[in-house]
Amino acid sequence: MARPHENPSPDAAAPRVRRTGHPVGGTVPAITGAAAPGVVPGRSRGGSGGGAGAVARSRGIPPTDARNRRISDALEAWFAREARDLPWRRGRTAWSALVAELMLQQTQVSRVVPAFDRFMARFPAPADLARADDETLLTHWAGLGYYRRARLLRAAAAHIDAVCGGTVPRDASALRRLPGVGRYTAGAIASIVFGAREAIVDGNVTRVLARLEARRERADDDAGVRWTWARAESLVRASASPGVFNEALMELGATVCTRAQPACTACPLRRECRAAGLEDAGAPASIPPPKPAAVRRPLHIDAVAVIERGRILLERRPESGLWAGLWQMPARESAKAGGHDALLRWTRDHLPGWRPAAAPLHAFPHATTHRAVVIRVWRGERQATGSGRDRVSSDRVWQRLTVLDERPMSSAHRRAIEHAVALLPAGTRRDRGSA
Ligand code: ADE
Repeated sequence: MARPHENPSPDAAAPRVRRTGHPVGGTVPAITGAAAPGVVPGRSRGGSGGGAGAVARSRGIPPTDARNRRISDALEAWFAREARDLPWRRGRTAWSALVAELMLQQTQVSRVVPAFDRFMARFPAPADLARADDETLLTHWAGLGYYRRARLLRAAAAHIDAVCGGTVPRDASALRRLPGVGRYTAGAIASIVFGAREAIVDGNVTRVLARLEARRERADDDAGVRWTWARAESLVRASASPGVFNEALMELGATVCTRAQPACTACPLRRECRAAGLEDAGAPASIPPPKPAAVRRPLHIDAVAVIERGRILLERRPESGLWAGLWQMPARESAKAGGHDALLRWTRDHLPGWRPAAAPLHAFPHATTHRAVVIRVWRGERQATGSGRDRVSSDRVWQRLTVLDERPMSSAHRRAIEHAVALLPAGTRRDRGSA
């Protein structure tokens, strides 16, 4: 899910009551037992039972603080038992955490898992990434989508290398000066790696907190966003270990308090959760209310599969806009569906010597965040009379079909090519020497 609030906003002004240390850069910290790291002497670690609240009240702590502590205690203890073993949680450093957080923005954990170790092996330090060319960068980002983030991460690496002496900054405000790092990412790194008492809010956290308080109002408007950050801050202030608490909150949203089917019986916060206690059946799942459906602008793409002797003609997209810098078949794009004639006119200018076959090979829809894309794939036919000028440049190549993986592409265009290749006669696909 998209991180809703990576746009700059002032650091939270709420005073931080720092009560604990935190193991820097470790794996999932074990916080079971009385001698757990970061535990303040005398602090109750009694889980979610009413006993801790009673003790807190008797010490003059307002009930709301006591509830916050019950919540954070229960969640941190749960995380110590249940945290998933994920690659970026092993031997974590500030650099690996930054890479992981940028990868995880708008991308599911299951997609990041196979990419993460490969990326870290190729770019073990910010300086390695700062020097990477586009092709190397995007190849190592393959499968993660939203390639703009890869470039932002490289820009962040360059900033760290040039301005910060090669070391990832420790505090949230310095972290936020890095390209691609907003309030969420800065808070995540500052708290998880350096133990800073910073809050984080992402889609998972938003949902968990709305349910915890049975807040039925929209969570994605300004008031909802302000409420969620304030609630996250009050909880992180109460936590024994801010980084553990923050990661636990995300983890709960990802694995237990899921959008459609929250597993309330397995939830460590069920006794504190106000949505779980509601009378109406299915209440937790209906909180927060869903966002109104995004309005996606239509985009019609007519891609021409020019394939000869085991090679396909590919072009690189411009450096900005949709799928910036990625490779694809030559394609006409328009807001309205165009017919064969329009494509024919386009190929005369753009692909002299080639024309599209009379009917498309295949068509499929593809949704991006802002676009409702329809891709039609046409077979390119060489014209007997054509000049056959297949100009090759740094933005236009004949790519061998056997090594298509080398070229970074959007998932939509990769799918289009796979269809084209599968539907073409076998002879066209075979490599019979160089083009
Ligand atoms: N999503 C964002 N950051 C994460 C993390 N550290 N672990 C799991 N999921 C995440």
